[in-house]
Amino acid sequence: MAHMAQRVAGFGTTIFSEINELAAQHNAVNLGQGKPDFEGPASIIQATSEALHAGIYNQYSPGNGIPQLRQAIADHEAAFYGLSIDPARQITITVGATEAIAAAILGLTDPGDEVIIFEPFYDSYVPCILMAGGVPRYCPLRPPTWDFDPDELRSLFNDKTRAIIINTPHNPTGKVYSHAELSLIADLCQQYNVTAITDEVYEHIIFDDARHITLSQLPGMFERTLKMSSIGKSFSVTGWKIGWVIGPSELVTGVQRARQFMSFAVAHPLQFGAAHALTLPMSYYEELQTLYQAKRDQMVQMLNAAGLKAATPKGSYFVMADFSAVFEGDDVAFAKWLTAEVGVACIPPTFFYSPTNKHIVSKQARFAFCKSDAVLALAAERLNSIPKN
Ligand SMILES: Cc1ncc(COP(=O)(O)O)c(C=O)c1O
Repeated sequence: MAHMAQRVAGFGTTIFSEINELAAQHNAVNLGQGKPDFEGPASIIQATSEALHAGIYNQYSPGNGIPQLRQAIADHEAAFYGLSIDPARQITITVGATEAIAAAILGLTDPGDEVIIFEPFYDSYVPCILMAGGVPRYCPLRPPTWDFDPDELRSLFNDKTRAIIINTPHNPTGKVYSHAELSLIADLCQQYNVTAITDEVYEHIIFDDARHITLSQLPGMFERTLKMSSIGKSFSVTGWKIGWVIGPSELVTGVQRARQFMSFAVAHPLQFGAAHALTLPMSYYEELQTLYQAKRDQMVQMLNAAGLKAATPKGSYFVMADFSAVFEGDDVAFAKWLTAEVGVACIPPTFFYSPTNKHIVSKQARFAFCKSDAVLALAAERLNSIPKN
């Protein structure tokens, strides 16, 4: 009988599909998956529409992306981080950050190499490392502050370590890595000759006094850092799947060699919309942060009012909350109960930890607040019905 490959046999379906199905079945307010339920800026949709109708952009784009988008990304890095990037050799466009992650791991690591990741991790990191024949090594972040233990991180570095993946601002904890934390990571990368892969898809969703730092900005780090980001979160168009990698040409070439055989080229007309998006004025980003900060405050307030203990995130559009005061079971049981009985869907975060460290978040749930005010208000009403012990 025909059967699937060993390398994927253990993956199963994602928790997102399961919760989405349950949410649909129970007509729950879905605060599970991190996709906005509102539109991105009209002008970027217009720019894509013009490209679609121009009659010349509906065929393959250049493999590394259209020059206009690579230039817009270089300008963006200069404006926000003071970095001077060569758009011809130091940028490649990808099918969202998801393809960037896969191509970075395939293009920059060899079988048997160790890759350090922080837990909770974005769900594609481990499968990509495993498919590339690598070995994931885990450094847990712990509630309620979501700090890591510097000695624990140090102990993971050795001569087999090839790369470390850092996601800041962080999904799902909302952590924004501090300058001190990034400096420690930078020192270890330099000491052990390790490549840093930074996932910065939430770079523009930051709150209060938090400042997003790109690891490449730190001394000696540009030459060993591959930064990735995408258009989805910053411009509320997660369905576009336009992403990019930025780094020294040797690393970008490694990524490009892998991805030329994964997708070859990225949706051509959408790249024009993305290029336009990156030329929006600073006021666009300020308004985005104001919008999300209000939603964050609303979310934290409604969770606390319902008896959950929410940790106020500094970035991203997720909140982690401790539900132990209102529910006795584990995170999976809680997420299913909340979806089916209360009518609010959330994500159980043990899926984002290794088996050894899952217990750290067995009393936590992740809520996405990238939702319209009416949806958040309905969620608040339903959460209010949770019996208080
Ligand atoms: C941390 C993180 N990295 C990467 C991605 C994927 O980004 P994209 O939609 O651009 O592939 C997401 C999306 O949820 C994410 O949260």
